[in-house]
Amino acid sequence: MSSLTDILTEFVRDAFRAEGLPAEHAGVTPSNRPDLGQFQSNGALAVAKSLKRNPREIAEQIRGTLLAQHAGELRDVSLAGPGFVNLSLTDEFLAAHLDRLTDDDRLGVAPKPAQTVILDYGGPNVAKPMHVGHLRASIIGDALRRLFLFVGDRALGDVHLGDWGLPMGMIISEVAHRQPHLPYFDPAHQGPYPRESPVTLEDLEEIYPVAAAACKSDPARLQEARAITAELQAGQPGYRALWRHFVDISIAAMRRDFGALGVHFDLWKGEADVHDLIQPMIDEMKARGIAEESEGALVVRVAEPDDKHEVPPLILTKSDGAVMYGTTDLATIVDRVRSHDPDLILYVVDQRQHLHFEQVFRAARRARWNGRVQMEHLGFGTMNGPDGKPFKTRAGGVMRLQDLIAMATEEATKRLHEAGLAADYPIAERQQIAAQVGIAALKFADLSNHRISNYIFDLERFTRFEGKTGPYVQYAAVRIKSLLRKAAEQGDAPGRLLPPTDIERPLTLLLGRLPDAVAAAHSRRAPNELCEFAFSLAQEFSRFYSACHILSETDAGLRTSRLRLAQLTLRELELILSLLGIEVPERM
Ligand code: ARG
Repeated sequence: MSSLTDILTEFVRDAFRAEGLPAEHAGVTPSNRPDLGQFQSNGALAVAKSLKRNPREIAEQIRGTLLAQHAGELRDVSLAGPGFVNLSLTDEFLAAHLDRLTDDDRLGVAPKPAQTVILDYGGPNVAKPMHVGHLRASIIGDALRRLFLFVGDRALGDVHLGDWGLPMGMIISEVAHRQPHLPYFDPAHQGPYPRESPVTLEDLEEIYPVAAAACKSDPARLQEARAITAELQAGQPGYRALWRHFVDISIAAMRRDFGALGVHFDLWKGEADVHDLIQPMIDEMKARGIAEESEGALVVRVAEPDDKHEVPPLILTKSDGAVMYGTTDLATIVDRVRSHDPDLILYVVDQRQHLHFEQVFRAARRARWNGRVQMEHLGFGTMNGPDGKPFKTRAGGVMRLQDLIAMATEEATKRLHEAGLAADYPIAERQQIAAQVGIAALKFADLSNHRISNYIFDLERFTRFEGKTGPYVQYAAVRIKSLLRKAAEQGDAPGRLLPPTDIERPLTLLLGRLPDAVAAAHSRRAPNELCEFAFSLAQEFSRFYSACHILSETDAGLRTSRLRLAQLTLRELELILSLLGIEVPERM
């Protein structure tokens, strides 16, 4: 199965071939002049140029062939301008196409050959509060993971925790100052360390800013934290045991919060997991002359002759021997290639880290550790507050995922109340709906802009049931569910599609475009393509629904055909929303 544009592209290609013309330019797109036709092909122009022929003449030839070969499918083929071909489908063909969609689990989206794709997103840091960058990474990355899985890839989401850097040393040092008698700090300690953590999640949240501030104002404390970090990395058992507690506590909290947000990870790996790969990697790079000393540091030169901007060397180790962010990312590539042999690794990380990834990818290629894997940095912009600066909570602090979800749920509760929705449902169901609406609001607001653009955090707007919002699209799906329920109560089920009339045609054409939206989102790694499509579909359905009767239609064939359109719309909306990580309540 494929989209209507795919099918028409085949028709037009065949026509080019039948005329002995090169067919590769014969693409078809939805028309940008719907008054002239439903679809258009600009292929004649491209071919005419390469053959130095008159485009209008070629278009005329193609038109003739198309009409002769596809009389049953094409209602109209006309020419416009210098050689555009406009195409419109017969209503019988449209109805038959939608009948085929009805029987297809994948709603026309053909699965493509599977690739193994690792998606690196989230990237929260142990013991440090998450910030909006981590939120965006999680939402975008998880949507891409769902999309890649649906398209047929073996997609694996990896949280890639920041669990190995200086913040770890800072926290250990702060705990050592507060509780110096703990066994973790006793060099003479024998046997296992306590199973219970000496700190809770709340402690960690309190300790990190204090520790960071101490290191900022006191060079001796910074020195101490550095030394502890180095010992931790070198395997000092007490520090390792304490660190394990921090990681376990943080992961438990993250699992809970990401779970509430509906963000899934297949791999809970972190920087620390590749620690043992680093030394051999460095030794090999030195031996092969890829790594070199520079001002006491060990670096890989990654500049290339065609660079428009300076690309500085990637620093592997600093003069004190500490490994860097890029070093762990390089080792992580080695690890991923060995463990999963991926075709593609996608890094969903703040655009401001673009240079970092360029350096890491180049270093991996210089060392030929990338194997056959393609690596792409998918950068994103910031979520800003009303002041235009990266969003912070009202208290000015960094955001906690938990609080953010609570805020969105609260706002959604207000909106539901204003709209008189879900008013008399049991309290547990109401709460669940509010949570689903709140998350739909957050995710859709984030995903509906192209990821590279910045946007302003405005819960009041995100949670509205009108406009291009998650709740609007979600509610459109809920309304169709209720329509289908009412139909069932009066004994009606969706039936065979009748050839569409002016009322049904625009919706019918749009339903045939789902595979195009999925393909665009996949190839551009751009979930906003899905949001756009879902929004158009919700709008088009609402136009259709207000233009005709469904339940009260007296012609049974028409009634059940329209129910079929409603059902297909619902299936497409539900599919897209599920790819965006948005749930649809049964009722509202
Ligand atoms: N932990 C990093 C940060 O907070 C993000 C990690 C992104 N992924 C990666 N492979 N570097 O900025």
